Amino acid sequence: MTDLWDALRGGLLTRALGLAADHDVARALADGPRSVDELAAQSGADPGTLYRILRALASDGIFEEVEPRVFANTETSALLTEDGWDDFAHLFGSSWLGAITALDASGEASFPRVHGDEFWSWLKAHPEERAAFDRAMAQGWQRRLERVEGVGWRGDETVVDVGGGNGSFLLHFLELHPEMRGIVFDLPETVRDESEFGDRCVFVEGSFFESVPRGDVHVLGTIIHDWDDESALRILRTIRASAGERLVLIEAVIQPGNEPQGAKWLDLLMLVISAGRERSEEQWRELLADSGWEPVLFRENGVIEARPC
Ligand SMILES: C[S@@+](CC[C@H](N)C(=O)[O-])C[C@H]1O[C@@H](n2cnc3c(N)ncnc32)[C@H](O)[C@@H]1O
Repeated sequence: MTDLWDALRGGLLTRALGLAADHDVARALADGPRSVDELAAQSGADPGTLYRILRALASDGIFEEVEPRVFANTETSALLTEDGWDDFAHLFGSSWLGAITALDASGEASFPRVHGDEFWSWLKAHPEERAAFDRAMAQGWQRRLERVEGVGWRGDETVVDVGGGNGSFLLHFLELHPEMRGIVFDLPETVRDESEFGDRCVFVEGSFFESVPRGDVHVLGTIIHDWDDESALRILRTIRASAGERLVLIEAVIQPGNEPQGAKWLDLLMLVISAGRERSEEQWRELLADSGWEPVLFRENGVIEARPC
């Protein structure tokens, strides 16, 4: 019974977290506990309302009321002081949550219906949201680096990070591989600092529905899950046609049965945002075969390697 209640009020948790991020509460608590009146004065919130938001979050272990109306960070809320997590909380608590509430069982993405535009065009038209999205994506570079550790690199390849965002993954990857070169390929509006790219990495702008730069290895980190099968096939065929020699997908492989798996929920977010989906091993094999790729390795951590067939 308690579990069902906790699940039912999930939208309130998402919104409360988004508000805490938008009012910068975690950063205001970085040096120690503060009263809700101070927090409210600093962020322009109504003190009584901010108190109710933080009290609810604290009941889930996000912030802690250490004295009456005085709050401190917990390990979880402290994550919101980092670029990326606060951006995720903002996106989830605002534009994504708005679209989530409009999800229906038609198989159509609800984001364009609610916000009047496809997700990527909407981001282009809202540069601050685009910047927040790029920071949110960049936040996961370390985990992605760990996930590709098992991939066998020759050591002198040019790696094309297709849909590589602001380049955070590839730049850190190249630090570990001093003989390799990199190309970050993404839409022009991606918010990035090319002065950080150094002399072994460049940014190339374009669309993966048209062409992608040539390279020895094309890496796609959580790209294909953004798209339905038809668009996913177009992307994979474009890479194949651009003389792609080797594909490394950093994705998720949906496991059968009832085991908890974050990707089973991420799948619904992809549906909401862009009619994308997470895929089972069987679905990945079919998609790759239909686009001219032969999978050579499925790793448990969702890294899939493929070669042209
Ligand atoms: C989910 S993000 C993944 C970013 C990064 N690879 C990562 O793992 O964090 C998807 C990326 O695909 C890019 N993208 C969307 N449509 C694109 C297109 N038509 N051509 C190139 N990149 C595109 C977006 O700009 C975004 O950076």
